[in-house]
Amino acid sequence: MSDQRVTVTDETSGKSLELPIIKGTDGEPCLQIKALPSTLGYFTYDPGYTATASCTSKITFIDGGKGILRYRGYPIEQLAENSSFLEVAYLLLEGELPTADEFKDFQQDITYHTMIHERLKSFIGGFHYDAHPMAMMAGVVGSLAAFYHDKMDMENPEHRMLAAKRMIAKMPTIAAACYRHHMGWPTAYPNNSLNYTENFLDMMFSVPTEEYKVSKVAAKAFDLLFILHADHEQNASTSTVRLVGSTGANPYASVAAGISALWGPAHGGANEAVLTMLDEIGDVSRVGKFIDRAKDKNDPFRLMGFGHRVYKNFDPRATLIRKAAYEVLEELGTTDPLLELAMELERIALQDDYFISKKLYPNVDFYSGIIYKALGIPTSMFTVMFAIARTVGWVSQWLEQEEVGTPIGRPRQVYAGAPERDYIPVQSR
Ligand code: ACO
Repeated sequence: MSDQRVTVTDETSGKSLELPIIKGTDGEPCLQIKALPSTLGYFTYDPGYTATASCTSKITFIDGGKGILRYRGYPIEQLAENSSFLEVAYLLLEGELPTADEFKDFQQDITYHTMIHERLKSFIGGFHYDAHPMAMMAGVVGSLAAFYHDKMDMENPEHRMLAAKRMIAKMPTIAAACYRHHMGWPTAYPNNSLNYTENFLDMMFSVPTEEYKVSKVAAKAFDLLFILHADHEQNASTSTVRLVGSTGANPYASVAAGISALWGPAHGGANEAVLTMLDEIGDVSRVGKFIDRAKDKNDPFRLMGFGHRVYKNFDPRATLIRKAAYEVLEELGTTDPLLELAMELERIALQDDYFISKKLYPNVDFYSGIIYKALGIPTSMFTVMFAIARTVGWVSQWLEQEEVGTPIGRPRQVYAGAPERDYIPVQSR
C-alpha cells in the first residue's frame, strides 16, 4: 500500500471517499475500492475483469505493453534458454530456484508420484473411444479428489504441497492414458529413469511390441513448450482454479475446473483451433479471404492464435515458439505446408490496418500447434499439452492463495431483469 490516495466524489450526494493506492513491485498501481459500497453505496462494473486485479501474487509478472513475462522475477527468455520444465516448476511452487540437492529431492518427489491408481484406469476405460481428451482430463483429474479426499487436511501446508506435487507428477500419466484409450493401446506405465518430458513421450508413444526410443529433439521441444505455458498470472483458467479453491473445494476439483476453463477456444483451446483454421484455409491463395472474414463484423470468425487480453504489442512466448517451430522442423528434416501458410497469414495480418489498430498479434498458440503436429501429437491432444504445463501454474497459484487465506470469490452484478411483480396463477396467464 502506498501513501498516495485518489479521491472519488459523488456529485449527487456530495460525499467523497479517499481510495488508497496499492503498488506492487512492478506494474500498474491499483485502487483499493473495498470501502466504495459501504461509503458511497456503489459497486464497480467490470465485465470480463478488464480493469480488475483479483489478488496480490508473487508468482508471475506480465507487462502486456512491453511484452514482458517473468516467473518469480526471472525473464521467460532466460528460463527458456537455460532452465528445464521441472526446475521452473520448482521455482513457481517454491519461489526460488533450487540448489542441486533441492532439485534432486524435488525430482525424486515428482517421480515417486507418477503412477496412477489402477482403478483410475477403469474410470478412463468408461469413456467412449472418441471422447475429447480434454473432457476426459477434466473428469479424470476431478476424480482424483475421490481417491485422496479423506487423507487431505487442507489446513496442513505439507498436505497441500503433496497434492500439488501429485498433480504435476500424474498429469502426463493421465494424459497419455487418455490418448492410448483413444488409440486402443494398453496403458503405459511411467518409466522413472526418464526425465519429465521423455517419460511423457514414452508413455504416449511406446508400444509393447517394439523398442521405442524417445527423440531428444522432441523431448527438448516439449520442455521448452512446457516452460512457456507453465504460468500466466490471473488468466481465465487460473482465475477459475482460484475461484473454486476459494470455496475450500478439494484442489483436484479446483484443477479439474481449470482444465474445463482452459478448453475454450478463446483460451487454451486456441492451439487446436489454429490447426483447424489452417486446415480450413488450406492454401496460401485463400489467406486473404479469411483475413477479410476475420475483419467482417457480421462474421463470427476470428483469426485463431491472434490477439491477447494482456499483450498488446507482442507475446514474448510466441517469439520463442516461432523460433522453436523452425528449429524443430529443421532438426526433424521435415517441412510442413501449414507452417508456410501460418507465416503468410502472420505476414498479411501484421500489415493490415485492422490488426494493427486493434493491436492483434500472434499469441503463444499460433505456433505451438505446428510443433506439436511435427512431433506426432494429434490435434485433439494439443490443449491437453497446455494443461500438463499449466498444472504447475494452477497449483502454485492455489498454494499461494491457501497460504494467504483469501476470502471466497464472489463478484456482484448489475441486475437488469424484471422489477418485483406478483405471481399469477397459470389459469390467469
Ligand atoms: N481476429 C479478429 N478480430 C479480433 C481477434 C481475432 N483473433 N481478437 C480480437 N479481435 C477484435 C474483436 O472483434 C474486437 O473488435 P471490436 O473492438 O471492433 O469489437 C477487438 O479486436 C477486441 O477484441 P476483444 O474480444 O474485446 O478482446 P479481448 O481482450 O477480450 O480478447 C482474445 C482477447 C479472447 C484472446 C481474443 O483476441 C480472441 O478471441 N483471439 C482468438 C482466440 C485465441 O487465439 N485465444 C488464445 C489467447 S492466448 C491464451 O489463452 C493462451
